[in-house]
Amino acid sequence: AATRIYHFKVQTMRLTRLCQTKEIVTINGKFPGPAITAQEDDNIVVNVINMTPYNATIHWHGIKQKLSCWYDGPSYITQCPIQSGQSFTYNFTVAQQKGTFFWHAHFSWLRATVYGPLIVYPKANVPYPFKKPFKEHTILLGEYWLKNVVELEKHVLESGGPPPPADAFTINGQPGPNYNCSSKDVYEIEIAPRKTYLLRLINAGINMESFFTIANHRLTIVEVDGEYTKPFTTERVMLVPGQTMNVLLTADQPIGRYSIAMGPYESAKNVKFQHTSAIASLRYFGAFPNSVASPAKLPVFNDNIAVKTVMDGLRSLKTVDVPEDVDAHLFITVGVNVNKCNSENPNNKCQGPRQGRLAASMNNISFNEPKVSILEAYYKKLEGYFTLDFPTVPEKSYDFVNGAPNDIANDTQAANGTRAMVFEYGSRIQIIFQNTGTLTTENHPIHLHGHSFYVIGYGTGNYDHRTARFNLEDPPYLNTIGVPVGGWAAIRFVADNPGLWLLHCHFDIHQTWGMSTMFIVKNGKTVVESLPQPPADLPQC
Ligand code: C2O
Ligand code: CU
Repeated sequence: AATRIYHFKVQTMRLTRLCQTKEIVTINGKFPGPAITAQEDDNIVVNVINMTPYNATIHWHGIKQKLSCWYDGPSYITQCPIQSGQSFTYNFTVAQQKGTFFWHAHFSWLRATVYGPLIVYPKANVPYPFKKPFKEHTILLGEYWLKNVVELEKHVLESGGPPPPADAFTINGQPGPNYNCSSKDVYEIEIAPRKTYLLRLINAGINMESFFTIANHRLTIVEVDGEYTKPFTTERVMLVPGQTMNVLLTADQPIGRYSIAMGPYESAKNVKFQHTSAIASLRYFGAFPNSVASPAKLPVFNDNIAVKTVMDGLRSLKTVDVPEDVDAHLFITVGVNVNKCNSENPNNKCQGPRQGRLAASMNNISFNEPKVSILEAYYKKLEGYFTLDFPTVPEKSYDFVNGAPNDIANDTQAANGTRAMVFEYGSRIQIIFQNTGTLTTENHPIHLHGHSFYVIGYGTGNYDHRTARFNLEDPPYLNTIGVPVGGWAAIRFVADNPGLWLLHCHFDIHQTWGMSTMFIVKNGKTVVESLPQPPADLPQC
C-alpha cells in the first residue's frame, strides 16, 4: 500500500455567485475543494494549515478510522479545532474500504464551502463488479449562502427560530440557469455516444435532501456509502446529506444536450427551503454547445413514494453477515421540538415560535457542544466534561407519533446534556430510530462516525416489534440513513472500533439544535483492539 500526501491550506477566497462577490472559506483556494484519491488500504496523510480567522477541522466522511479515532475530525468531539495560524496532520489508513467518500469541515457550518471528494479505488487488478466504465465523473451536490455561514449559525441560534433557506443549490459549485446571473455558471459533462460512465454522486448539502435526475436517461445504482449494491435502475435517485452513491449512465440517446437536475426532497410541511432546482448540462460530443437542452423532470418536493422506491432498491450486492443475535437493543427517538423558555437557561431568548426556542434531541437529550475534546477527556480520564448516562428506552411499541404524555419521546421537555453511551468491544448493537417531533416531522439523515451499519428495516408510523419485518439477507451497509418522516429505521452493527464516535443528524441545523449523541467503544484485549495514544500535534482548546 502507498502513502498519499496532501497539503490543505484553509484559506479565504473571493467568489462571485448570484451577482454578488463574497469571501468564502476554501481549501487551497478551490471551490469545491480538491479531490483526494487513493487505493484500498493506502495511508492518507493530510497536513492542514489554517490561515483563516475561523476555527476549522476536517472530517473524512465514511472512512472508519479503525484505531485512528484521533483523526476523525468532529470539533470538540475527537479534537479541539485547529485555530487560526495552527496546523494539524491527519494520518489514517483506508483499511479495507473502497468507493466514493468525501471530506468536509466539521466546525459550525463551514462545510457549506469546505468540502471535496475522497475517492478510494479498488486495489490494482481488482475489477469493479460491473463492466468497466469508459470514464468517471464526480458530482458534488451543495448549498450556497450569500451570508457568512459561521455568522448565520450564530444568528439562527440566537433567534430561536428556523434557518433561512440557502440562496442556491449547486452542482459542483455551480447553480445553473434557474438562478439570477447564473446562466454561465453551469457545470457540464461531455460524453461519447454509446459509452457507459460512472458518476460518483455526493450530497455535500447542509440542510437539504435532494433528488437527482438526468433528462431522458436512466441511472443504475451500483454503490452506496462505499459499498457495492445490486444494480438498481431508476429514473431518479435521492441522496440525504452525507450520502454518496455511484451510478452508471449509458449514453444511449440521440446526440444532443440534456439537463442534469437536482432539487429538494423536503418532507417537513411547515418549513420553507430553497425550491429552485440546480441545473447542470450533459452534452454529447458533437452537440452544439448552445443547443437547447432537453429538460430534466424532478419529482415534486414532498414525493415520499419516490424516496421509498429508491430506498427499497438499495440491497447489498452479496448476501451479508448481519449479526443474528444482538447484545444491546436500543431505541433512539429523533425529533425537533420547541424548548420552553425558562429561567434556568439564561441564553434562552424566547424569540422563536410559540415563545420558545427550536431545539432537537435524541431520546429527549439535546446535545450541548462542549468546549474541550471529549475524546481527550475520556482518554485522560478528566472528569466534569461529559456523562455516561445517555438514556436508554426499552424497545417496545409507544405512540411516538402522537407523543403519549409520559413517554420519553414526548420531546417538548428535552434536557440539555453532553452524554455518551458505552459499548463493550465487539458488542452487537441494534438501534431502532423513531422519528418523532411535535413541531415538524421530517426525514432525519442520521450519520454514525467510525462504523457502517446494516439498515435491516424501516417503515412509517410507530415502530412495532410485532409487525416489523427485517431483511437480514441483503440489507444495504450504510453510514447515513434517512429515518423516514413520521416513521422509523432499524440498524445493526458490531461496535468493533475503539474510541469515541459521534452519532448525529447530518442536517447542520439539527446538529446545531442538539440532535447528536456519542458512543464510546471500549478497548478490546489486544493492542490491535485498543485506541492508540493521541498524536503529538493534536490541537489544544
Ligand atoms: Cu459528515 Cu459528523 O459528519
Ligand atoms: Cu434531523
